[in-house]
Amino acid sequence: MASVEQINIKNFKSHSSFHSNIEGSQVAVFGNNGIGKTNLLESLSFFSNSKGMRGNKLENFFQNKNEVKSKFLKVDCVLKQENYSTNISYQLVNESDQINKDFFIDNKKSSQQQINGLINFIWLSPHMDKIMYEGASTRKAFIDKLISNLDQNFKRNLSDFKKLSDERILLLINNGDKKWISIVEEKMSKVFYKILLERRQKILSLNSLSKNYLTTFKKFQINIENNLEEIISQEDKCVEEIIKMLFINRSLDEAVKRNTFSPSIDQINFFDCNKNLNAELCSTGEQKSILLSIILAFAWTFKQKHIPFIMLFDEISSHIDEKNMVNFFNEVAKLDTQAWYTGTDKKIFQVIENKAFFIDLA
Ligand SMILES: Nc1ncnc2c1ncn2[C@@H]1O[C@H](COP(=O)(O)OP(=O)(O)OP(=O)(O)O)[C@@H](O)[C@H]1O
Ligand SMILES: [Mg+2]
Repeated sequence: MASVEQINIKNFKSHSSFHSNIEGSQVAVFGNNGIGKTNLLESLSFFSNSKGMRGNKLENFFQNKNEVKSKFLKVDCVLKQENYSTNISYQLVNESDQINKDFFIDNKKSSQQQINGLINFIWLSPHMDKIMYEGASTRKAFIDKLISNLDQNFKRNLSDFKKLSDERILLLINNGDKKWISIVEEKMSKVFYKILLERRQKILSLNSLSKNYLTTFKKFQINIENNLEEIISQEDKCVEEIIKMLFINRSLDEAVKRNTFSPSIDQINFFDCNKNLNAELCSTGEQKSILLSIILAFAWTFKQKHIPFIMLFDEISSHIDEKNMVNFFNEVAKLDTQAWYTGTDKKIFQVIENKAFFIDLA
């Protein structure tokens, strides 16, 4: 089990100075609106993503007090894993409008990547609720982000495809050598195919984790399909079809200055297995439960690979009824790692009252 057992914050957003020694695996942060609950979780999320869980610009993390912006911020944690403790920290320094970001392990300069080798923070915040209602491209972006976190190859393939795509469009616009365009399209098709395949493999694995592990909480199924589905298992045929489509679309793509045929052809839908209904037709609370379940299944992949992680759930109880909350806390407990929750009212944590460590920000 991994846990943060001490946190010290200096000048991170609303927290000019915050310190807490934490005990246990369930951390419940509560307090009124605007007291700094999300900021506290965000300060931890920064270890895993240097835009934080809200995707802010670096300059926005410095504390702004009476219209004076601090030039220095630091977050320092003692991380406990099994029977040893490590100090992990980061600091941001704003010097002549240039922001330097440094990470440290046991006070020795290190990198974010090295910290991710020690611990990963996985979160769900209300900002992510939109995944359930904003439409197909938001769902796809979310799933791609999850898979990228699990698989560096997938991340690389997405960025390789983007580079090749840009190269192809430039060649088309500038009336480039046709042979060269064909070579680029061939390369694109191979990467395209890999992306489709990797998406399906990872989605299959998330679906089976949901089926096998989320015994008391919402079971989901992620469905994925596109027009190539019938030939998707035949690599040569599929790659050939992609090459053909890219060729057919050349003049269209030149006119609109983008690749109209891309791995975005995948349609991703979420299905509520308990209701037997597409998530789009589910209630707000049911949709939130599906989202929580997807994050839990994602966390299970970390657990299965023995990658240490800590979970951050901001505004956990919004849209979730009491019975579901109890089930959810049970599911998180099975993951056997630390989980942080926030809520405006201490009462929502009643069911874990005896186990939780409370942080009252009032
Ligand atoms: N750079 C900053 N410097 C100082 N304060 C900031 C900065 N950025 C945001 N804040 C303030 O921090 C306060 C706390 O924000 P936070 O989102 O953590 O509140 P919260 O406790 O999660 O509230 P809610 O219950 O509404 O979600 C807000 O009033 C916000 O305006
Ligand atoms: Mg908040």
